[in-house]
This record gives sequence, structure tokens and C-alpha cells, in this order.
Amino acid sequence: MLLETKNLSKIYTLGGRQIHALRDANCRIAKGSWTTISGPSGSGKSSLLSLMAALDRPTSGFVMFEGEDISFASDVRQAWYRKERIGIVFQEYRLLEHASGWENVAMPLVVTSLGRGQRHARAMTLLERVGLSRRAHHLPRQLSGGERQRVALARALVHEPEILFADEPTANIDQDTATRVMELFADIRSQGRTLIVVSHDPRMAEMADMVLQMEKGRLIS
Ligand SMILES: Nc1ncnc2c1ncn2[C@@H]1O[C@H](COP(=O)(O)OP(=O)(O)OP(=O)(O)O)[C@@H](O)[C@H]1O
Ligand SMILES: [Mg+2]
Repeated sequence: MLLETKNLSKIYTLGGRQIHALRDANCRIAKGSWTTISGPSGSGKSSLLSLMAALDRPTSGFVMFEGEDISFASDVRQAWYRKERIGIVFQEYRLLEHASGWENVAMPLVVTSLGRGQRHARAMTLLERVGLSRRAHHLPRQLSGGERQRVALARALVHEPEILFADEPTANIDQDTATRVMELFADIRSQGRTLIVVSHDPRMAEMADMVLQMEKGRLIS
């Protein structure tokens, strides 16, 4: 199994109050598969994603990546996992405000041996794929919400990760643009890569190999 969660739980403590964001979540994700996760607001979808992406540590339970417990791995090991093996599109994008579209996309390549020219070329290829090559020099604040979302998607893919995590990647774009994003996802899967997508779009569920439903912190199917 590529990725597996075992009795995964997350409790946030805020102002002395405990919030059970995730309760005993178990799932198994095969290499090269497409999983779509849906469920009401607050049901724990983003929390699940951030634990699977090793951006946060569980309260109990664990996440296995290729048989290795990544949830309790060292900080260095987790950073390697995030940088080398996975790509993430955050629900709120998290772009660098003072960097242009292409510079944002090329950011994951800064740690590689590629020169600026090569990073630019690679970023432009990805921006082309998401239909934004003419916005490469815009700063995030000069882009629409849907354009920012697609810059974030291009950035998540630029280093050709094995797993793409995407949190509502089509929430702010029109149907036609969403269709292009889904075609891109289908392409990624046909390359044997793995997709884990939080989405309410029924088409994202139709395209998926597995649909996970969340409710009040639990995976109910
Ligand atoms: N850092 C945090 N500190 C405290 N509570 C949090 C934190 N992050 C999330 N929560 C709470 O955990 C629960 C699950 O949140 P989560 O963001 O995972 O939901 P979601 O399913 O992604 O919702 P949405 O569809 O609105 O994005 C919510 O009740 C939320 O308020
Ligand atoms: Mg969310």
C-alpha cells in the first residue's frame, strides 16, 4: 500500500476546549489511484489531508507511507517527504505575495540543481497546462481567486510528485476550467501517480477510483 492511515485521530485544543477534528480514521490508498474525499464543512477533510501530507502530527494513530510511519518520523524525514514525494494544493493557496506567478510555481525547484532558466522553462510548461501562461508575471494580488488556485496547482506539480494532495482545487473556478483541471488529474493518474482530492464536485467523485465520505471527524465510507 502506498499510503495508509491507522486509527488516525486529531484533537485540537483551543482556548481550553478540545475539538475532535478526526476520530479513528482508517483508509488505504493504492499507488496510481485517485481518491476523492467529501463531506460537510468542518467534518475534518483538511485535517486528514494535513496529517497525510505530514504537515501536522496526529494525536493518536499514524500514517504509513510505503510501509514507513511518516507521521512520527523526524522533522528532516518529513521535510524530505513533503519536498520530494508529494505536492500539495492548499485550500487557501498559500502563495508568496511578492513573487510572480512563475516564481511561485518554480519555488519547489529552488532546492534542486536546476538553474533559473530551467526552472523558468519548467514553471512555464506547468502554467501552460493550467491555462495561465499569460499570467506568469502577475503577482498573486493581481490574479483572480481561480487564477491563484491554478498557480497553486502548477506549483504543487512542478517537481512531479508521486502523490498530489489537493484541497478543493476547483472550488473557485468555472465549469470549463474545472474540466481542464480534471483532465490534468486524469493525465497524472495515467502516469501512475496518485491523487488525493478533497472536492464536492460530483464529477471529481465520478472520476475517482475511491470516494471517501467524512462526517464529524469520521470516515463513514
Ligand atoms: N488549527 C486548529 N485549531 C483548532 N481547531 C481546528 C484547527 N483546524 C481545524 N480545526 C477544527 O477542526 C474541525 C475540522 O476542520 P477541517 O478544517 O479539517 O474541516 P474541513 O472538513 O476541511 O472543512 P471545510 O469544508 O470547511 O474546509 C473543525 O471543527 C475546525 O474548526
Ligand atoms: Mg477544509
